[in-house]
Amino acid sequence: MSALLEVRGLRTVFPTRRGPVAAADGVDLTIAAGEALGVVGESGSGKSVTFLSVLGLVRPPGRVVAGEIRFDGRDLRRLPRAELRALRGRQMALAMQDALSALNPAFTIGQQLCETLVAHGLARTEAEARPQAAALLDKVGIPSAAQRLDDYPHQFSGGMRQRAMIAIALAGRPRLLVADEPTTALDVTLRAQVLDLLDDLRRQDGLALALITHDLAVVAERCARVMVMYAGQVVESGPTAEVIVAPRHPYTRGLLESLPRLEDPDRPLHPIPGQVPDLARVDAGCRFRNRCPLAVPDCAKPVPLAEAGVGRLSRCIRAAEVA
Ligand SMILES: Nc1ncnc2c1ncn2[C@@H]1O[C@H](COP(=O)(O)OP(=O)(O)O)[C@@H](O)[C@H]1O
Ligand code: SF4
Ligand SMILES: [Mg+2]
Repeated sequence: MSALLEVRGLRTVFPTRRGPVAAADGVDLTIAAGEALGVVGESGSGKSVTFLSVLGLVRPPGRVVAGEIRFDGRDLRRLPRAELRALRGRQMALAMQDALSALNPAFTIGQQLCETLVAHGLARTEAEARPQAAALLDKVGIPSAAQRLDDYPHQFSGGMRQRAMIAIALAGRPRLLVADEPTTALDVTLRAQVLDLLDDLRRQDGLALALITHDLAVVAERCARVMVMYAGQVVESGPTAEVIVAPRHPYTRGLLESLPRLEDPDRPLHPIPGQVPDLARVDAGCRFRNRCPLAVPDCAKPVPLAEAGVGRLSRCIRAAEVA
């Protein structure tokens, strides 16, 4: 299985008043066609920055300073700007958490969808794009799609706006979709509907999916593989079913214990004590060590992401002892 997306040693830095901050610091990841990778980690762990870097959407003064980002064999960091722009949207697309800011309030949903279809060369004129636009809205589960094309974003409910944004992201028939907390604003039923749609596209069209989410239950159901991020680094990755049952990093263990479980809602929750380290102040040692129940003096030395079983990686010197 060769990967559609292959990222090695990605480092993305933001200058801040307190010094440079590497929001993604040596990130490696791969996603194959037809595969869904779940990306989890507390807020601020670098999930969005990692994938904005992949898509070439990091806003200056933020900058990708190191690493290789290969999409379908091509090194995106060496691609001319215009070619990267052509790839984005058409081959790689982003669906964000915040549908309100992604949609333009001054144009109808139909205008925005049609414009996108024309921009991707899938129709010559916006009028010609209308049937495709209606089909896309229908695909994301918006009833009476053809009529709703003439609505403005404010006439849509939050859930519908979220789905309209996903429709726009899908308009160019991308091969890779980065879905950054795409269902946060949706209720349980709509969430399942959107995730079902993404599942279908993955299975039928071979869509590669990066699903960034707080919801480990969603990852468990929808993603064969999971990657856990902490303080700008990948700390664990592997087959979801195995990682959830037997994590190989104390942070993953902590995340699992801090989440409610559907089948056992009364189980006491244990939030991870302590704070995420200040990225402007991190040293070369394990970034989790101020919160880690297994920490020993050697954890102050650099800890590489190392093999921890078949297809599994962990950035912990005591990976085998995590129960
Ligand atoms: N525009 C920015 N300017 C400065 N720092 C930023 C910027 N965007 C992100 N960061 C830094 O990167 C960290 C990770 O951000 P992000 O990738 O958005 O986290 P996540 O998506 O995991 O919640 C933030 O905590 C912050 O330190
Ligand atoms: S390397 Fe040490 S501090 Fe870091 S997670 Fe493993 S045991 Fe904990
Ligand atoms: Mg984010």
